[in-house]
Amino acid sequence: MGKKFYITTPIYYVNARPHIGHAYTTIVCDTIARRQRMLGADTFFLTGTDEHGQKIERAAQEAGKTPQQYADQISGEFRKLWQRMGISNDDFIRTTEDRHKKRTQELFRRIRDNGYIYKGKYTGQYCVSDELYVDGAKPGDPCPLCGRPTETVEEENYFFKLSAFQDKLLELYANPDFVRPETRRNEVISFVRSGLRDLSISRSTFSWGIPVPDDPKHVIYVWLDALANYITAIGYGSTHGGAQAAFQKYWPADVHMIGKEIVRFHCVYWPAFLLAAGLPLPKAIVAHGWLLFEENKMSKSRGNIVRADTIIDVLGNDALRYFLLREVVFGQDGSFSFDALVQRYNADLANGLGNLASRTLTMIGRYFQGEIPAVLPSANTSDNAIAEAAQKTISEFNALFDQFQFSRALEVAWGLVGLVDKYIVENEPWSLGEKQDPASRGRLGTVLHTSAEALRIVTALAHPVMPESTAKIWAQLGLGDIRKLDLSALQWAQLPAGTRLGKIEPVFPRADKSTVERMQKMEEQGRAPVVTPPSETPAAAQPVPSPAPKAPASVSDGKITIDDFAKIELRVGQVKAAEKVKGADKLLRLEVDIGTETRQLVAGIAEAYAPETLIGRKVVIVANLMPRKLRGLESNGMIVAASLEGGKPVLAGFLEDVPVGARLK
Ligand code: MSP
Repeated sequence: MGKKFYITTPIYYVNARPHIGHAYTTIVCDTIARRQRMLGADTFFLTGTDEHGQKIERAAQEAGKTPQQYADQISGEFRKLWQRMGISNDDFIRTTEDRHKKRTQELFRRIRDNGYIYKGKYTGQYCVSDELYVDGAKPGDPCPLCGRPTETVEEENYFFKLSAFQDKLLELYANPDFVRPETRRNEVISFVRSGLRDLSISRSTFSWGIPVPDDPKHVIYVWLDALANYITAIGYGSTHGGAQAAFQKYWPADVHMIGKEIVRFHCVYWPAFLLAAGLPLPKAIVAHGWLLFEENKMSKSRGNIVRADTIIDVLGNDALRYFLLREVVFGQDGSFSFDALVQRYNADLANGLGNLASRTLTMIGRYFQGEIPAVLPSANTSDNAIAEAAQKTISEFNALFDQFQFSRALEVAWGLVGLVDKYIVENEPWSLGEKQDPASRGRLGTVLHTSAEALRIVTALAHPVMPESTAKIWAQLGLGDIRKLDLSALQWAQLPAGTRLGKIEPVFPRADKSTVERMQKMEEQGRAPVVTPPSETPAAAQPVPSPAPKAPASVSDGKITIDDFAKIELRVGQVKAAEKVKGADKLLRLEVDIGTETRQLVAGIAEAYAPETLIGRKVVIVANLMPRKLRGLESNGMIVAASLEGGKPVLAGFLEDVPVGARLK
């Protein structure tokens, strides 16, 4: 093993129970960590919880608990969820642990000894929700990050000479890999260029924190405390030889993965603290976008969260992982919906990879008694085309993955699944299987071997994304333990003929119509009941999974038939009433006449259209969408709009006059 790889998630605040927004970051890091391990890197993956500060102290008070009791409970929930999700973190740090407290004090001492800390008085605004000093704000001003009102703080504090690092930081940002993606890098550069003021790094009006060394009336500012976790967890400041060695080995971090709202803390404060302490800097800080639900950032305060447990109970861990990596364009905001989740699951997993595995392996079972047949030398171009496409898929997938383009990488890998599906249909192995002559047998063997080899490659590439189900497919291919695979050596033509298949079982049973509704209900009713431990749950639409489709199955390369389209009832509607939905900036409640009835709809178009401008307007409605609740309001259908990246939605309409209720087809 040559290379080391150290990756971190942000440490999560313990004021709220985990939801799939937190799960998203953790899954992304877990996937990267798993892939690095498969590539042979000595990998360390860290996550944990951020437990000090005024925000947590207040949340505990509201819950009628001591901060420690409260932190213990919620930190425990995070840890339990990560275990349930099979997250492969090597450590879980809590900022209330002794090791962290002592080592953070050590960091504070070092920065102070280096001359970067002085005592002063802070009078200004503070946002407790973001634990942010809002420079230059007046009483009553909102927080620039979350928009909540700031509070006036007047206290004696220790200050950090942040202003001394302005030029040095700008030099760092010249490296395009240091802050990613580009948009975040530009944001940070302009923030730092606008001038840095010294930063207060202690608080003295409450006590829930780590005492400042030699002055315990102060507690260390919670962001310095929290950011320090990245080094304290791996042994910085320890007197223990083993811990020191770990720090030497793993620091600096290769990737700090964060959400875009905490860029300033990670890309400005953290490198400045490290520079002041004379420590090496992380290699990359990578910020992703937000997971939105019902048009807004999923968060406890908005009350629009979805819990991972619900999805795991119904569809399994891998479905959630695949969906988040495939559906969200990394770096941008992405919407979560149960409909989209189930659609992706059925299209890409049940009908895609799952169907390819089941049809290929079933036919090898049937025609070759469960032994991978040999490939005959052939001049058949379709075999070679698959081999070439597979080689190309490996290199493209790897390159995209290394650039954090997970969605594109998976799209490329599933492109190969589509090609092999087509290859199977074109070569009709089921017809070849009817014949007994040597030429047909030879051809049949070649077709099934080629399909199985392509299946092996997609399975290997997808393993870090879907560890549980790919391990099953791997074992069904007769290849043993997928964790032993060296991903760096993956290439075409490595599947030995004569390999005995394992027991063939469906890996992704189709999710039926009731799946969306079941998950919605589970969320509405609060905590979802746990059915069985995930390792025993066949990523299943339990209780009655329908059998996997048998070969030959229809080809699904992203196209739908006219019958599929006919299922969508698009109608002309006319807006009769429109108003803003309280507490949701982007939502409007509409009453729309669709000819046969007037429907209530909730649409995310409030930022683009003032309610009064919509009255009388003719719009296009998806009329047969399952009703769903948004902000407690039932939405019966969907209004069709062009959705513009970074822009506002534009409603679909007509140039000529059309009667209300007319169907679009
Ligand atoms: N405690 C700080 C981080 C300290 S790191 C030294 C914090 N915690 S947090 O719990 O509020 O959020 C942490 C991270 O959770 C976000 O940066 C992001 O990675 C993830 N997410 C929380 N909600 C999310 C979404 N709705 N969408 C995507 N990620 C989300 O900030």
